[in-house]
Amino acid sequence: MSTAVSASYRVLVAGSTGACGQAIVQELATAPKCREVLALCRRNVSFPRSDSSKVRLIVLEDFNDLVVEPERRRNKECPLWGLTEVDAAVCALGTTMKDAGGSQEAFRRVDHDYVCGFVKTAIGCGARRIALVSSSGASARSAFFYMRVKGETEDEVQRLCNEHGVALHVLRPAMLLTPPRTSGSRRLAENLAQRIVKTLRLSMGGSLAVSVAQVARTVRVALEEDPTTMAQAYGAQERASQTWVYPSRTIYRLGLGTA
Ligand SMILES: NC(=O)c1ccc[n+]([C@@H]2O[C@H](COP(=O)([O-])OP(=O)(O)OC[C@H]3O[C@@H](n4cnc5c(N)ncnc54)[C@H](OP(=O)(O)O)[C@@H]3O)[C@@H](O)[C@H]2O)c1
Repeated sequence: MSTAVSASYRVLVAGSTGACGQAIVQELATAPKCREVLALCRRNVSFPRSDSSKVRLIVLEDFNDLVVEPERRRNKECPLWGLTEVDAAVCALGTTMKDAGGSQEAFRRVDHDYVCGFVKTAIGCGARRIALVSSSGASARSAFFYMRVKGETEDEVQRLCNEHGVALHVLRPAMLLTPPRTSGSRRLAENLAQRIVKTLRLSMGGSLAVSVAQVARTVRVALEEDPTTMAQAYGAQERASQTWVYPSRTIYRLGLGTA
């Protein structure tokens, strides 16, 4: 079965309200080849900067539903009911130990269980190409809990994709640079720190940090272009059959010209 996405594709995005997710929704909504962006969120939001006519919000209040009942979309009451003909999917879900209340279990539920549940759902909806925003240093053998969870998630997502003949693109960004904040108490310190990193990044070619716009551009290229040609041109690595990994430097190179 071909993993090429159709000339005019429909994409399901999880984590679409996050820093990366918002940039990804904006990038895809303005891509001529993209027909529709289905933004899966747990709350009602608007995407003011995107070509919003292409963005459709799907509100799923509890992402646990993706885990306990991946086939729930077959139920008429589920917001995902009847969702088919999705060509591609992007996962930019994630939390922090702080937001997870310091609980390793709660962190893993989002960064592993919800991600795998989403990928299963996306494949069930027909997705033939999947892009996963993971992290630099992800490894199931890492001594660090965060990196280990990210690595285990990558391995399980790869297993699911291979089982169904779906192409997988794993992005491993280093620190993420976000657009400057215009309000909030931590605005000044955060913006200053980001400016310093941004300057250092120029000399380190993306191994220290990449912007969310560069991540978003990489996602779009990964969904639209021929992976083998792109891997050769930008240094993405073929990790297994139909599975490509994009180290931070590759994301930086692919996203040159973005903010
Ligand atoms: N930040 C960095 O420097 C960095 C570096 C390397 C890799 N990464 C990875 O890159 C990915 C994207 O990071 P980011 O900075 O864009 O993340 P972010 O801004 O914190 O956004 C996370 C997204 O996940 C959703 N989410 C979190 N907990 C959820 C829950 N319990 N149920 C449903 N949705 C939930 C959030 O929804 P709400 O808006 O509703 O909360 C949001 O859409 C993550 O996997 C992260 O680990 C981040």
